[in-house]
Amino acid sequence: MGNIKNFLLSFTILLTIISAGCQNGVHPEGIGGKGETNSEENKEGSEYAGESGKETGAPTIETGVISIAHRGAPFFAPEHTIPSYEIAAGLGADYIELDLQMTKDGVLVSIHDKTVGRTTGGQGEVASYTLKELKRLDAGHSFAGRERKRYAHVKIPTLEEVLERFGDSVNYYIEIKNPADNPGMEKALIDALKKFQLLHKKDKNGLPKVIIQSFSPSSLKSVQRMEPGLPLIRLFNEKDFASLTDDAIKELQTYASGVGLPYRSVTKKEIDRLHSYGLDVHVYTINDKKTMEQYIDYGVDGIFTDHIDQLLEILHMRQNSPNEKSRIHRLPQKSDEFGIRPSD
Ligand code: G3P
Ligand code: CA
Repeated sequence: MGNIKNFLLSFTILLTIISAGCQNGVHPEGIGGKGETNSEENKEGSEYAGESGKETGAPTIETGVISIAHRGAPFFAPEHTIPSYEIAAGLGADYIELDLQMTKDGVLVSIHDKTVGRTTGGQGEVASYTLKELKRLDAGHSFAGRERKRYAHVKIPTLEEVLERFGDSVNYYIEIKNPADNPGMEKALIDALKKFQLLHKKDKNGLPKVIIQSFSPSSLKSVQRMEPGLPLIRLFNEKDFASLTDDAIKELQTYASGVGLPYRSVTKKEIDRLHSYGLDVHVYTINDKKTMEQYIDYGVDGIFTDHIDQLLEILHMRQNSPNEKSRIHRLPQKSDEFGIRPSD
């Protein structure tokens, strides 16, 4: 009889421990993210097979809509330049977006294209230039905006110059471009973020200081191996997203916090499907207010835009509206620190 009592007591203790573990162990970041919400949705019978919601080990980013200043503020200053980022930061963007390429001598620079022609009027690939040679190019060459003269001869910035300029006063949404052509980009990126003490930090709103994005899953996995726990966003083009199976989503969950998708290929149903797997959905690149409103209503978690001013206007309006039912719970703050505004 004593043996049975001891067995029952041990069994009860074991059950208590397992139950406590389940309650505490789902979200290592513990910031009340999408995974918890989706678990509730799943309990109520979501259409998709997201099982128990987010169990990815990848950190949750946020539950509201984040504003991502795509290439800075390219309608107001040349894309991917310090003035462009200054304007975006001054307006109050949650994130400034950087696309990284690597020079011939192994320096990470912020420029979208693989080649320098479109933005600088030069010729050839970024990877065929040393940094010194690249710095001779004019990143304002093709800028057609109102203040063309003001930005004449602005330079392509290195990643470190951007980090030096802004430090931890902004959040960075950084894309690793063409990593297969430039081995070592991931390490160079992590080293720079370490140097500026930006890893695993959050801003005052609880947003990660750094999000890393790439179209290359192997590049993201490499970052994850080097620096576990960073929020990673897997980018898709329209074609690859169209063929994304549930099994592929489950594999993606093992390293990514979310996906970055061309907005035209995303329906509300698809957003719900991805949410049921606990993944954040960020859409690129929306440049008109009507479409921004539409996708916020669909439930996206972030929007890349060249018109960060317009997106912020919408977020402010929604937050201030007494009838607001959306997930805008965080007022973006303008910052005087960066001085230059489009209206200057
Ligand atoms: O990074 C999201 C979006 O920017 C991807 O497109 O070509 O503008 O880098 P792209
Ligand atoms: Ca990009």
